[in-house]
Amino acid sequence: MRPGDLVARKQAGRPILMLTAWDALSGALVEEAGAEVVLVGDSLAMVVLGHATTLPVTLAEMIGHTQAVARGLRRPRGQQPLLICDLPFLSYQCGTDQAVAAAGRVLKESAAAAVKLEGGEPETVAVIDRLVRSGIPVMGHLGLTPQSVHRLGYRRQARDPISQERLRRQALDLEAAGCFALVLEHVPADLAGSLRRQLAIPVIGIGAGDDCDGQVRVTADLLGLTPSQPPFSAPLLAGRELCVDALRGWMQSATRPDAPLEVDGRPTRPATPSAPHC
Ligand code: KIV
Repeated sequence: MRPGDLVARKQAGRPILMLTAWDALSGALVEEAGAEVVLVGDSLAMVVLGHATTLPVTLAEMIGHTQAVARGLRRPRGQQPLLICDLPFLSYQCGTDQAVAAAGRVLKESAAAAVKLEGGEPETVAVIDRLVRSGIPVMGHLGLTPQSVHRLGYRRQARDPISQERLRRQALDLEAAGCFALVLEHVPADLAGSLRRQLAIPVIGIGAGDDCDGQVRVTADLLGLTPSQPPFSAPLLAGRELCVDALRGWMQSATRPDAPLEVDGRPTRPATPSAPHC
């Protein structure tokens, strides 16, 4: 899958499903599950690095995580998912030269074939235009943009007609600047649906309703591994509890003096299985 293939997918009416990954293990999981597009999202700052926001993650960290995800992919080269890396906060906001250098590093040093960046202000549109003309495919991201948390918070965006019109203009600007797809996060479903029909590029939603060309989810949220999930992302299973119960079971069985855990280097039994919580 290449960035340009996504427009054809939209035209064919086949949904685009994108999942996040942050290391070799999660990359292997989402690839095995059939993800055709894998995003190394800067949500990893919160999900796996323990930061309170996405702002602290650095370009070097994003590149390192993208390299790790790529190492987890097992399909033959031409059949691997499209790998996209988020440009982190302050790696593209200081001007077009800085943005080309940052995105260029991502493409040179990792197997990512595209970058994603947030926002639709004229400065960001100029950055995207320059990146695209430098040969770097760009996915846009509008609506709830976590890098602007201190300005916009985490609430639903574009709730009134004026901000909806602003977002619509920004989406059209991003398309004109050459984005190959657009993520719309936490916006009203009817706005996402009408933008999906207005834009030639695919609209990939998260908390933007079902009337999108595709959906993206943070894998750790879907698996119920994060301490709390955003309101628009229901977990598929109680992953945290399952993991904790399984580990607790192993620790209990490991301390039973009457039953050895291994004999001649082989486990005598699996750790106590726990009932699924979902
Ligand atoms: O960082 C991320 O995981 C994202 C998705 C929520 C789209 O940007």
